Amino acid sequence: MDENKAENKPADISYGEIAQLEELIDRESLREVCRSFFDLFGLSIRVFSARGALLATVHEERSICRYVNSLNKGRVACSETVAQAQMRLPISPETVVHPCFTGAVYHIVPIIYDDRQLGRIVIGPFLPSEVTNTPPSLLNLDPQLDPERARAALSEMPRVRSQTAIRIAAHLRGILDLILFSGHRARLTSTMHLATVRENYRELSEKNASLQDAFNKLKELDRLKSNFLATVSHELRTPLTSIIGYSEMLEAGIAGEMTPEQTGFVETIRTKGELLLLLITSLLDLNKLERGQLSISTEYIDPRAVLDEVREMCVPEAEKKQVKIEAAWADDVPFIQADPVRLRQILINLVGNAVKFTPASGHVELSIRVTEIRVRTEGDEAEEDDGGFGAALMMAPERAVEFAIKDTGIGIPEAEIAKIFDAFYQVDGSSTREYGGAGLGLSIAKSLVAAHHGTIRVESRPAQGTTFFVVLPEAQPDAG
Ligand SMILES: Nc1ncnc2c1ncn2[C@@H]1O[C@H](COP(=O)(O)OP(=O)(O)OP(=O)(O)O)[C@@H](O)[C@H]1O
Ligand SMILES: [Mg+2]
Repeated sequence: MDENKAENKPADISYGEIAQLEELIDRESLREVCRSFFDLFGLSIRVFSARGALLATVHEERSICRYVNSLNKGRVACSETVAQAQMRLPISPETVVHPCFTGAVYHIVPIIYDDRQLGRIVIGPFLPSEVTNTPPSLLNLDPQLDPERARAALSEMPRVRSQTAIRIAAHLRGILDLILFSGHRARLTSTMHLATVRENYRELSEKNASLQDAFNKLKELDRLKSNFLATVSHELRTPLTSIIGYSEMLEAGIAGEMTPEQTGFVETIRTKGELLLLLITSLLDLNKLERGQLSISTEYIDPRAVLDEVREMCVPEAEKKQVKIEAAWADDVPFIQADPVRLRQILINLVGNAVKFTPASGHVELSIRVTEIRVRTEGDEAEEDDGGFGAALMMAPERAVEFAIKDTGIGIPEAEIAKIFDAFYQVDGSSTREYGGAGLGLSIAKSLVAAHHGTIRVESRPAQGTTFFVVLPEAQPDAG
């Protein structure tokens, strides 16, 4: 039977199956409907679910019921009748008439929706207009019953013609049907919505898992690459130092006099060897920086001295290209706390780039000025998610030193600026490119600046020039 089906297994609403009456119906509206029927027709109404749960009730105790209930036998008979009326299940879709010993009746109206019986409405008790006499079942009920009083009480029972009662029930069913329909539709919509959300969530979780998988694989690959790079670089460096050493000895004539042509060849071997060594050192540095293994040992240093030293180192290369290098700084530049070797490495990279990417008769200007920086300290890494902007705004500014390396060179297109700090990235990545290098300098410089709690940025205009700015915090008074 449908009833059992409803009790045993929850309806699969996503396939359009009907759920329980109590799940579909809004109890407040149901109570409202019952109340207005009671007000209109004066008839008591109770609505039960298929499981027998009372969902709504509006009723008034009738005089006859009150009187009968005051008698011993009457009380028993009354509660039996009421219980039977409420438990009685209409088998057909038609209304069932359940009689009471008083002559009154209950109409039990099945609630049917989509061919399923979801519950029932019990209307009554009321007296059918056709009943005119007080029935013997009432008069003989209890020896203590006063027939006159019973008759008077019974006459107060609402009277309805059977046909009218059937029409009232049909009307009530029609309204319930509407409520059920909208409840069903709302439930279907929300169930579908839930199903969609659940499905989307499942898809997202799957994608997330596969992304995590890919990420783990990439991380492992990256680790292998780093290991490989470290081993290979290390193994290359030892023989390379020998090659350079032996070429220097040959050049110095230790193995005997050489012809000018031989000297030229040996010089090429040495300079190419030195370039290779530089590249290998860069690779090793990058590797150490990526693994967080590069430690810096800071000293209290004068930024002007370091920049001047770097300028001197770059002058020969600049002169070869007919590029002028000039330096200018104020007198009040404070000392900074930095690793002199690493600071030199940062500046050599930047000045070297400026010279490299500036054509003949161009200028490179080096300057230092005092500025402010909002410093991020070691413990702040957790806030890195926002790119540091939110956290940086919260920090108090500190006095700092700004190095500017300005050139009148080829410039960097706007779209490339974000990428030039990536390892191995070069604006001209073609095999026929004009400028040497491996694309490591800026990436190393950026990591080294970060290790000094500083910042690096660039401003550039194609064909006009580029300026790199490195800002490092001033040395703390107690640090020197
Ligand atoms: N001053 C500059 N003017 C124009 N382009 C620049 C300048 N500095 C850097 N770039 C661009 O950024 C790229 C990356 O610079 P980076 O210093 O990292 O690598 P590189 O100089 O090519 O090689 P390496 O520094 O490893 O010898 C350069 O290849 C160049 O395209
Ligand atoms: Mg470079």
